[in-house]
Parts: sequence; C-alpha cells; structure tokens
Amino acid sequence: MRRLMAWLDDRTGLISWSKWALEHPVPPRTGWWYVFGSATFLAFLLQVVTGIALATAYVPSAGQAYESLRFISERALMGHFLRGLHYFGASAMVILIGAHVTRTYLMGAYKFPRELNWLSGALLLLLTLALAFTGQLLRWDQTAVWSVIVAAAQAGRVPVIGPELVKLVLAGDTLGGQTLSRFFAFHVFFIPALVFLLVALHLALVLRHGISERPTPGEPVDKATYRRRYAELMAREGVPFWPDAAWRDVVAGAVVVAVVALLALIVGPPALGNPPDPSILHAYPRPDWYFLWYFAVLALTPNHLETIVIVFGPLIFGAILLFMPLFNTGERSVKRRPWAGLVVFFIVFVIAAFWMAGNKAPWSPDFEAQPLAASVVGDTTAAVVRGARLFHDKGCEYCHQIGSQGGKRGPDLSDVATRMTPDAMALKITNGGPDMPPFVSNLSPDELQAIVAFLTTRK
Ligand code: HEC
Repeated sequence: MRRLMAWLDDRTGLISWSKWALEHPVPPRTGWWYVFGSATFLAFLLQVVTGIALATAYVPSAGQAYESLRFISERALMGHFLRGLHYFGASAMVILIGAHVTRTYLMGAYKFPRELNWLSGALLLLLTLALAFTGQLLRWDQTAVWSVIVAAAQAGRVPVIGPELVKLVLAGDTLGGQTLSRFFAFHVFFIPALVFLLVALHLALVLRHGISERPTPGEPVDKATYRRRYAELMAREGVPFWPDAAWRDVVAGAVVVAVVALLALIVGPPALGNPPDPSILHAYPRPDWYFLWYFAVLALTPNHLETIVIVFGPLIFGAILLFMPLFNTGERSVKRRPWAGLVVFFIVFVIAAFWMAGNKAPWSPDFEAQPLAASVVGDTTAAVVRGARLFHDKGCEYCHQIGSQGGKRGPDLSDVATRMTPDAMALKITNGGPDMPPFVSNLSPDELQAIVAFLTTRK
C-alpha cells in the first residue's frame, strides 16, 4: 500500500500537495466564526449530490415537469426526503453564505492582500442567489411560474437593455416550455460550473494569502508591513490547519447536514401548488422565503418609485460589493469601525422588517373572503341585500374590508358612507383607481346601483 501511494505521489504529486494544503499553518485562536465558508461549500456539495439524484427523475418540459415532481414527491423511493434535502440544503446555503460574507466584512478580512478573495466571494454570493431563483421555477407550479413572471416584468423596467433582459430570462417573448429549458440549463449546468471555478479560485487565494488572523483593535492593516507581520505570526504561533483548526469545520459541517436532514424528514419539501394556468388570476404568488423580503419591497414601493427602486436597488447593492476592496487598509476590528457594525445591523433590520411584511402580505387580495353575514349587512332592503351579495361575488371583498372581514389591499369600507357621496362611489367603482380595476364593463347599471345602495348604509 505504502509503495502504491509513493508511486502515485511520484507520478502526480497530489499526496504531497494535499498534505501541504492540509497542514499549512493558520493563525491560532481563530474560533468558531471561521466555519461558515467551509460549511457553505459543504452545503453546495450536498446540493450537487441531491440535485443530480433529482435530475435523474425530473423531466424539464412544460408538459411533464409538474407531474414528474409529483412522482418524485409521492412515489419515488426516498423522493420526498430527497426533495426536502435539496430544498433545505438551498436554504442552508443561502444562510451560511450570508453569515460568511457578514463575518468577513465585520472582521475586515477583505482588506489587503485579500481583496480578490472578497470579489470572488461576492460573485459566489450572486451565483448562489441565482441558483436559488432558477431552482424555484423548476417546480413549475403556479407560485413558481408567477414569481418568474413578476421577475421578468421587473427586468423589463431596466432602461435600454430591459427588453433584451426579458428575452434572456424567458428565452423568448412569453413564458413557456423554452423558459423552463433555459432555467434548467442555467440551474444545473452553467451556474454550478461557474461556482466550481470560482470556489477553486477562492480556495487557491485562501491558500496563497493564508486565513486572516483575528483582528486586534489598534493594529491597522498597512500594505508595507502586513505580509511580514503575518509571516512572523505564523512562524511564532501558527498551527497546522488539519487538525488544529479544521476540526471545527468538521463539527459545523456535520451539524449543518444533520439539521438539513432532520428538517427534510420532519418538515419535508414545500408542497407543490397547483399546476400553472395563466387563466387563473386567483394565484397567490409568493417566492421562497429567501426572496420574500424583496417581494415585499416590490409590493410596497409606490408606483411612481418602482422603476427607481428596481433599477437602482440592485445596482447599489452590486456596487457596494464591488467597491468594498477599495477600502483595503486601516483598522480591521469592528470595535474601531463602528459604522461597519451599524451597516450590518441596518441591513439585517431592513431585511427582517420587509420579510415580516412579506410573510403577512396585506397587499395581496384575500381570495378566501366569505360572503358577508346577514348580521353584518343589517339592513334587509332587497337592493342592499343584493348589493352586499354582489360585493362578495364581484370580488370587491377580496380587496376591501367591511366589519373586519375581507382583504386589506384597498381601504376599509366599513364607514365609507361617512366620507363619500353615492355619486363619488359610483364614479370610483366604474373608473377604478391606481390600484383598483375599473368595473365599468363588469357591472350592469342596476348591479352598480345595488352595490352603491349597500355601501351607502356603511356608516
Ligand atoms: C384589486 C383590489 C380591489 C378590488 C377588487 C376592488 N377595489 Fe375598491 N379600491 C381598491 C384600492 C387599492 C382603493 C384605493 C386606491 C384607489 O382609489 O385606487 C380602492 C378604493 C375604493 C373606494 C374608495 C374608498 C375610499 O375610501 O376612498 C371604493 C368606494 C371602492 N374601492 C369600492 C369598490 C367596490 C364596490 C368594488 C367591487 C365592485 C371594489 N372596490 C373592488 C382596491 C380594490
């Protein structure tokens, strides 16, 4: 055995190289904060393995994708567990890469000489989000399809290249089978290939510059002296990566896999919604949780600001990631960079707030609203009773509350008669408004009268 190994090493050099890579000195006392990078990579590998397994049974065609996923979830051996692993693995990857970026930012690990570590990592962050987004469409249920339609509509707002972007996303002018093929190709070939390449570069850079030492307040990064001081620290106190530091990565990785597997077993993958059907307007599109906050941002942005938010939001985010390495000297410790801590706090706070709003989604019509009870209507005049019935049947109640029943998309109409005349109501209903459809072709004159008669009793 030993002779075989020696022969292999002589011909390839791989064993000596692995030994060198595993035992290269790393700073002492790095601690648990340094495990997120390797844990992200492990989550990615889990996605590759479970993804390949799913791809053996998934049919990327508009006619069969949905059915093939039903087959995987309901009948294939371990299929349910497998989909669960892939779903929670994706969530783990998003969370872990977020933690890793936050950690390197807060510890100033992107400063000299590790600027390119940061840039390759920033690209990996964007690719991870792209993987999460493209994966969602492959479910090919209503929610997934509508989310992509929303995304395409957003992309269309980008000046100049908007229409081309939409074509790139949809692989044509409309969403269809070719869109699914495009997302499939990006999700399983193109983006993962890029991730592998960038991870290789990212790790090569980590080996080249060494893992950053824990920042010490009052010891700023100085390009002239940093490398010498780092080499001295390694010579004096450096420990071999394996096993002195790597055991924490192993433990963290095991915890990640165990949590993902438990969630896949106990909670299971997201249920498949209904198959996509463009004629159903009662879809309730909600992206997977990691995009829910952005969905809330889009929904809550006033109409006239939408284009600005859609175009400049991602641009500013991208620019921050890209230009961060320009601030590559000075203090690394967050104790001396209080604004860095504030920025992180602010971003986490904003995302959490929008995420909670997205979870409740008060702007989405409430399609479950039941007809108003006779006790709520009160009045028993024939026209009023008919109006109350139409208020439900024509869909007004999906958006308007009366007596705390109904959707919250439009204003509460419980006391609308105190602020509007019957004529103003009729005008509003026929013409609609910025966020209310016009009902002119949808209500006969006597139906309109009945609804107004009903609303006039709301004081
Ligand atoms: C898609 C959601 C939606 C539906 C369906 C809808 N509305 Fe509205 N409605 C709104 C919104 C949003 C507003 C406020 C902004 C505006 O004027 O567009 C509004 C405003 C109104 C107002 C003015 C209230 C005020 O306080 O200013 C009335 C009255 C009204 N709607 C009645 C109706 C009736 C009657 C129906 C059914 C025939 C209906 N709406 C269907 C969303 C909706």
